[in-house]
Amino acid sequence: MSKALETMELLISLAKRRGFIYQGSEIYGGLAGTWDYGPLGVALKNNVRKIWWKRFVDDRDDMYGIDAALIMNQRIWEASGHVASFADPLVEDLKTKKRFRADHLLEEAGIETKGLTIAKMDVLIKEKKIKSPDGNSVGDVRQFNMMFKTHVGANEDAGAVSYLRPETAQGMFVNFKNIMDSFHPKLPFGMAQIGKAFRNEIAPRDFLFRTREFEQMEIEYMVDPKKWTETFDHFREQMIAFTKDVGLTQSKVHELEVADEDRAFYSKRTIDFEFDFPFGKKELYGLAYRTDYDLKQHSEFSKVDLSYYDEETKERFIPHCIEPSFGMDRTILAILTDAYTEDELGGEKRTYLRLAPSVAPYKVAVFPLLKNKPQLIEKARDIFKIIKKVIPEVIFDDNGNIGKRYRRQDEIGTPFCVTVDFDTIEKGAGVTVRNRDSGTQERVEEKDLIEFLKKSIGQ
Ligand code: GAP
Repeated sequence: MSKALETMELLISLAKRRGFIYQGSEIYGGLAGTWDYGPLGVALKNNVRKIWWKRFVDDRDDMYGIDAALIMNQRIWEASGHVASFADPLVEDLKTKKRFRADHLLEEAGIETKGLTIAKMDVLIKEKKIKSPDGNSVGDVRQFNMMFKTHVGANEDAGAVSYLRPETAQGMFVNFKNIMDSFHPKLPFGMAQIGKAFRNEIAPRDFLFRTREFEQMEIEYMVDPKKWTETFDHFREQMIAFTKDVGLTQSKVHELEVADEDRAFYSKRTIDFEFDFPFGKKELYGLAYRTDYDLKQHSEFSKVDLSYYDEETKERFIPHCIEPSFGMDRTILAILTDAYTEDELGGEKRTYLRLAPSVAPYKVAVFPLLKNKPQLIEKARDIFKIIKKVIPEVIFDDNGNIGKRYRRQDEIGTPFCVTVDFDTIEKGAGVTVRNRDSGTQERVEEKDLIEFLKKSIGQ
């Protein structure tokens, strides 16, 4: 087994064992491309959500948060171009009838696929006699639309067709007029949204990296077309700043200027932010200049005027859009793979998550040194309650011996463990605070404890 695969298996097993992430529908054998977040995964995700919302919405005065419906009028997806062209290249194994991504098969054979058309992929598959992973011949390459189709209401006729949204973005474009009418913002301004998106991926893979149901954090920022470059540069910096907020190792984050032939049809410029995952350097986020494509299309299809009147210049035009798009689940995967660490402490091997305090599910754990001494337990509970009032993400643990408790907290990435021992009670000598990464402990007086912890976790 390759090192990357081994790391991913160890991480998936830790994520399940410790209640971060479970396989979707597990007791029924799972459902490919779906994952369920457990209590610690939810806490981690909520922390990422809060950090994102703070940076991109709360700390600004030019951003409007929305939460649009997941199911929208089918005309939206016709206008956006998704019905016609939101597709991946698909081939079928002629023997087993299993389906694969044609570009993945070509890439596995060492052939670069960026910018290749369906027809060209078809020629290459045939020319190079590319087989399926099961060693069988494959059929023609064709387009496979990735939207999940459903019917709204009791009728199943064409008029009742709808799709689970494949991106959150369109929910913002179709609310542009509502935001204008309610708040009368001047350009530039943006709409921001965090929510689920669904794509019927042909080949979901690499844990949370490519799933069929995932969460996006997106911004559609409206600008005067003459000024798009400064906004683009601004969000380019902001996106990197966000990767720092959530503690990603900066040398693993890369920018890729996407070439003309590889960009989505609506984009005039795109930068992909890539991350060094254990299975390779892959797309984490995207920043695109979507021009006036979406608002123009929706104006045309809905017959509703989506133009903007600039009172200063007396010009009327359709605003252009800069779109920073973040995948939540890829963020979680980047955080977990980056944090997963194996080392030796006190002559013993250990595994721990080197999570930044900003995202760690628990910032602090509190223990009594021994589990069967009521005096210690009572004191530790008192200290736990005091900390909880200021730092809500604190956990009390008196299960098993102290060594096991440290290991458990290390594995879930808790940065600090506070232990109450006999000197705390008998000599008023304060508590010990253990640092997750170094394993070192220091004594801190009770009166200084809250300030010490707040400072250590960066609050
Ligand atoms: N609105 C633009 C848009 O949706 P995208 O590049 O298709 O652009 C944006 O998706 C981000 O959503 C990606 O950079 C990635 O983080 C995340 N994403 C896309 N497909 C995904 C999938 N199948 N599983 C997990 N995350 C995905």
